[in-house]
Amino acid sequence: MFKFKEYLTEKQELVNNSLRNILEHFSVHSRLMKAVEFSLMAGGKRVRPVLCIAACEAVHGDIRDTLPVACALEMIHTYSLIHDDLPAMDDDDLRRGKPTCHIRFDEATAILAGDALLTLAFQILSSANILSGHNDKNHHPSVRLKIINILSSASGWNGMIRGQMMDISSENSVLNLDKLEHMHSLKTGALIEASVSAGAIIGGCNTKQLKHLSLYAKKIGLAFQVADDILNVEGDPLVMGKTAGTDAHRNKNTYPSLMGLNGSKKFAGQLIYDALQALDIFDKSSDPLRKIASYIINRKK
Ligand code: IPE
Ligand code: IPE
Ligand code: MG
Ligand code: MG
Repeated sequence: MFKFKEYLTEKQELVNNSLRNILEHFSVHSRLMKAVEFSLMAGGKRVRPVLCIAACEAVHGDIRDTLPVACALEMIHTYSLIHDDLPAMDDDDLRRGKPTCHIRFDEATAILAGDALLTLAFQILSSANILSGHNDKNHHPSVRLKIINILSSASGWNGMIRGQMMDISSENSVLNLDKLEHMHSLKTGALIEASVSAGAIIGGCNTKQLKHLSLYAKKIGLAFQVADDILNVEGDPLVMGKTAGTDAHRNKNTYPSLMGLNGSKKFAGQLIYDALQALDIFDKSSDPLRKIASYIINRKK
C-alpha cells in the first residue's frame, strides 16, 4: 500500500536539499540573504513543490527534471508569505513557528528579501542548464519559456497578486460567495494550479492529461484556502506555527465567515471529491496526488 507520510517526508527533504544547494551558490552572509534563508528554510510544508513533483509522476515523468521548478515555486510562495505578513498587509508576527521576517529582521529587509526571492525564482528558471535533467526535451527553450509563462502569470497581476489585492481591499466589507471563490482561487489557487500544470508539462503530459490535472488543481487550490480559513478559526497556533483568529480580527472575507464552520468543511469535502473524480483517467502513479488532496483538508497546519 502507498505510504503517504513517508512519501511526503521524502519529497520535502528532496526539495529542502535542492533549496539548500541553490542557496549555497549565493552568499548567505549578507543581511539580505540571511533573511532570505531564514524565511525559506523556516519549515514550510512544501505543498507546491510536492504537487509539482507528484504531477510529473502522475504522467510518468522523471521527477529530477522538476526540481528547479519546484524550488522556484517555493521561492515565489515564501516571498508571498513574507509580504503577506507585513504590517501594511496582514500584520502577523508568527510564521512557520518563527517570528515573521519583518519581526526577526526589519520591514525594509523583509520587503527586499521578498523581492529577492521572487526574482531569484525566475533567475533559477531561466539559468542555463537549470532544467538539466534526464529528458532532453526539457532543455528545449520552448518548454522553459512555457514554465516561466505559467509561473509568472499565476503569481502576477492577474493571479496571486490580484487575489491579494482583493483580500486587502475587501477587508471590512462583505463579499458574496462568487466573489469570495474568485478571490481564493486567485490568491492561493493560481499558484497551486501552476505547480500541478508545470509538473505535468515537465513530465511530458498530453492535452487530455493536462486538462484533467488542471481541473484537479483548481479544486484542491480552492480547498487549500478554505482549509486555511477553517484553521484560522479552530486551529492550534502551536501546531500551525502561526496565530489563529486573525481573519476575524481583521474583518477578512473567509468561508467560515460566510458559510459557517460546518458549511465550510462540507464545501471543502465536496471540492476534494471533485478533485479525485478528475484523476479517474490516471493509473496508480497518481496516488500521491490523491493522497495530497485528502491531506489538504485534513491537515492541522
Ligand atoms: C499558507 O500557505 C498561505 C496560504 C496560501 C493559504 P501554506 O499553508 O502552504 O504555508 P507553508 O508553506 O506550509 O508555511
Ligand atoms: C496568504 O493568504 C495568501 C498568499 C500569501 C498569497 P492568507 O493571508 O489567508 O494566509 P495566512 O493565513 O497568512 O497563511
Ligand atoms: Mg493575507
Ligand atoms: Mg496572512
